Amino acid sequence: MNIILLGPPGAGKGTQASRLEDERGMVQLSTGDMLRAAVKAGTPVGLKAKAVMEAGELVSDEIVSGIIGERLDELGDETGAIFDGYPRTAPQAASLDTILAERGRTLDHVIELVVDEDALVERITGRFTCASCGEGYHDKFKLPAVAETCDQCGAHEFKRRPDDNEETVRTRMTEYRAKTAPILPIYEARGLVKRVDGMADIAHVTDAIEAILDGRG
Ligand code: AP5
Ligand code: MG
Ligand code: ZN
Repeated sequence: MNIILLGPPGAGKGTQASRLEDERGMVQLSTGDMLRAAVKAGTPVGLKAKAVMEAGELVSDEIVSGIIGERLDELGDETGAIFDGYPRTAPQAASLDTILAERGRTLDHVIELVVDEDALVERITGRFTCASCGEGYHDKFKLPAVAETCDQCGAHEFKRRPDDNEETVRTRMTEYRAKTAPILPIYEARGLVKRVDGMADIAHVTDAIEAILDGRG
């Protein structure tokens, strides 16, 4: 099974991908996470991507399609992929078709997380993650059960993304509207798009996605 989670910044793509990993043994392929790792490691890709990401603009199609292909090759043939934050432009959607076909994979669903844009700035500016294992949290919607202690690994250090400020979020949303939303009709024409209410509770959103994966939704 290969699926795309599509939605604007803060829609819950990463949150849902990580829940599907835990529950289904699928693997999350997040170009945002890969690029952040490259920035942290100071690789040539990271050096190119850093300023672009901090401005909330899109990194080049060649770079992201390259890293997605590499990561897919690390998965076993039987392992399902959850594309999170990729594809984001029409050329990336075309590259993904090639990348999947070359590996004998087919796209099963494109799941659009439909959200109210006004909620997104609050979601993003309240977001933080465990510095050790990467588990995601939110100041208002998902605090650790024990204050300042990661639910997953018990670490006490947390971090926030440099692009999670209001100004950059606005640019990221503009980029989404201009370049990413227009790829939906491509998938719509193939009958692959399913819509999920991304404003529901985190667990309800997962249930709705699982219903689709199980052919119930
Ligand atoms: P990327 O990392 O993909 O960021 P994004 O698309 O802006 O999306 P986010 O990660 O901000 O949001 P999300 O949908 O994952 O939400 P989350 O689950 O965390 O990309 C970052 C940058 O990298 C881009 O700007 C670009 O520069 C570059 N890049 C990446 N991919 C690229 C590509 N393919 N091409 C070119 N450039 C690329 O949820 C947000 C918060 O809300 C969390 O705190 C969460 O706890 C909370 N939350 C989630 N769901 C709910 C809910 N149902 N109710 C209440 N709270 C919720
Ligand atoms: Mg994310
Ligand atoms: Zn942790």
